[in-house]
Amino acid sequence: MSLLKSNTFISAADVTDINALADKALQYKANPLLDKALGEGKRIGCLFLNPSMRTRLSTQIAAQNLGMEAIIFNVGSEGWQLEFEEEAIMSGKTVEHVKDAAPIFGKYFDILAIRTFPSLVNKEDDYSELYIKQFIKYSGLPVVSLESATLHPLQSLTDVITIKETFKEPRKPKVVLSWAPHVKPLPQCVANSFAQWMNAWGEVDFVVTHPEDYELDKKFTGNAPIIYDQDEALKDADYVYVKNWSTYNDYGKIYSNEPEWMLTAEKLKLTNNAKVMHCLPVRRNVELSDEILDSENSIVTQEAGNRVWAAQAVLSELLKG
Ligand code: CP
Repeated sequence: MSLLKSNTFISAADVTDINALADKALQYKANPLLDKALGEGKRIGCLFLNPSMRTRLSTQIAAQNLGMEAIIFNVGSEGWQLEFEEEAIMSGKTVEHVKDAAPIFGKYFDILAIRTFPSLVNKEDDYSELYIKQFIKYSGLPVVSLESATLHPLQSLTDVITIKETFKEPRKPKVVLSWAPHVKPLPQCVANSFAQWMNAWGEVDFVVTHPEDYELDKKFTGNAPIIYDQDEALKDADYVYVKNWSTYNDYGKIYSNEPEWMLTAEKLKLTNNAKVMHCLPVRRNVELSDEILDSENSIVTQEAGNRVWAAQAVLSELLKG
């Protein structure tokens, strides 16, 4: 049975069984070349409208492990500026419509993977996932999100894998998503996605903590308790997932730097010696202190390493599908 509902992977909702997909990723971690001929003769196009390190490299390695060729195109910095609005009069900065570009990718590739960040200006376009949906509509290819306007599913699958492989007690771990300070407004994608996957996975006690006014869209946080007192939320946590995000309601803002929200060793004493996670890149001593990042509690490197296995599990499902 396929572990994906269709030939797109842009959300937890596209997965039939999160546990089974995470197990598959861990199988690849134990034996990276298990399916080394699966993608023979196939090509994945990885389109980056925005910068990346981990996503780009891990997806390339995952494709290579499956015998596929990966072609990277930094559309954002090297390509023609794309137009996404239907019936646009293209007399401004945009040079090529996605309606014309995407079918060409359909001729070149077998799978299309796309990174396209939100504008943080037009909430309606961002939250309708206009850009990635236009690629799905016009390419006719299986599409994998490398982080879209509202979600980062390969990161979240990685986070599930990392919790699964590090938690061995016969109970559910307490997992806290904790807002962190930052110097500029960041998308809500990672936080939305982490919440969506934790809720859909259902194998953790999940709590969200952030300053008032930083509420995420309820469709992602669901019934998770939202606690404005960070110290209270951290009590007995087994995992603290640290991430900044800008405001959702008054869209795309940061009101103040809130340095007191940075996770420190002192705050970690409130937890059950929690493991600390972050998707990276991280601004040291703004989002997370040196003392945490350089301590044994930090599993951020293990987490980033697992990006390969998450990507490999998803690509293998698309190749089989
Ligand atoms: N976590 C993550 O997506 O990293 P990159 O932005 O470097 O790809």
